[in-house]
Amino acid sequence: MRLENKIGLVTAAGSGMGRAGAIRFAAEGAAVGVVDLDAKAVEEVIAQITQAGGRAIPLVGDLTQRGFSRDIVAETVAAFGGLDFAWLHAGHPGPFRVEDMDEDVFELALDLNLRTIAHTTAAALPEMRKRAGGSLVYTASTAGLAGSPRSPAYSMMKFGVVGWTRSLAKRVAGEGIRANVICPGGVDTPMLREFIARFDTPQANQDKEEMVAQRATQTPLGRNARPEEIANAALFLVSDEASFVSGAALPVDGGMTA
Ligand SMILES: NC(=O)c1ccc[n+]([C@@H]2O[C@H](COP(=O)([O-])OP(=O)(O)OC[C@H]3O[C@@H](n4cnc5c(N)ncnc54)[C@H](O)[C@@H]3O)[C@@H](O)[C@H]2O)c1
Repeated sequence: MRLENKIGLVTAAGSGMGRAGAIRFAAEGAAVGVVDLDAKAVEEVIAQITQAGGRAIPLVGDLTQRGFSRDIVAETVAAFGGLDFAWLHAGHPGPFRVEDMDEDVFELALDLNLRTIAHTTAAALPEMRKRAGGSLVYTASTAGLAGSPRSPAYSMMKFGVVGWTRSLAKRVAGEGIRANVICPGGVDTPMLREFIARFDTPQANQDKEEMVAQRATQTPLGRNARPEEIANAALFLVSDEASFVSGAALPVDGGMTA
């Protein structure tokens, strides 16, 4: 098993890529803190992991609360005895508009794309130092690598996640701690629909599923990703197989940014 004796946590683990990651990490031997706002979804993930013989604890709460962003580390450590990795995956599409921006949505997106990862990282670093190393994995987007005219606020924040990762990787490298960021293209999850549907562009009247399918055809590999395909990249990055990989912004986008 690729994560034997490792302890980690995953945020936004109730759905999509985070869910796929939590289940996969546990199947590879890790003990996992499963973090999400949605208690029922967390319960389902825990059930799936434990029924397969894995170890996981539920961490239900709102990551926009600074205390909770930090507490998830303390609770994982209390349950399993340390922390080796964290996939800080939660995020938000943010407001579409630039003029007449919805400030509440902007704040929510700032909380979920940026603030929460800073607070959880701050809590995780001392725990990783105690174990003489660790792996931090973040989730940006292809919009964190190239401009996205349909979502400038989201793109600004995801560029921020990439900048955070690269800076942190250099800062903590001497302590054996690695930091990397995954940049997914379109992934078939509820968030992709949320993202596509909010565009108040001429396309906004189009059927949501039709738009998801259209997005797929714009990708060189001709489809959107399955959540498990992003979880596979996260598995590599949290594992010792990525022992010389740090500061990387890894596109997992079917060739979109090539
Ligand atoms: N889906 C895509 O096409 C795509 C592409 C690029 C990047 N991303 C990024 O991936 C991440 C989202 O992943 P997904 O598509 O797997 O999402 P998803 O829609 O499948 O799941 C999001 C999860 O986050 C949880 N959540 C929402 N608000 C929360 C809060 N305040 N506190 C705790 N949990 C909360 C939800 O309950 C849900 O379970 C984001 O960082 C997003 O920017 C997504």
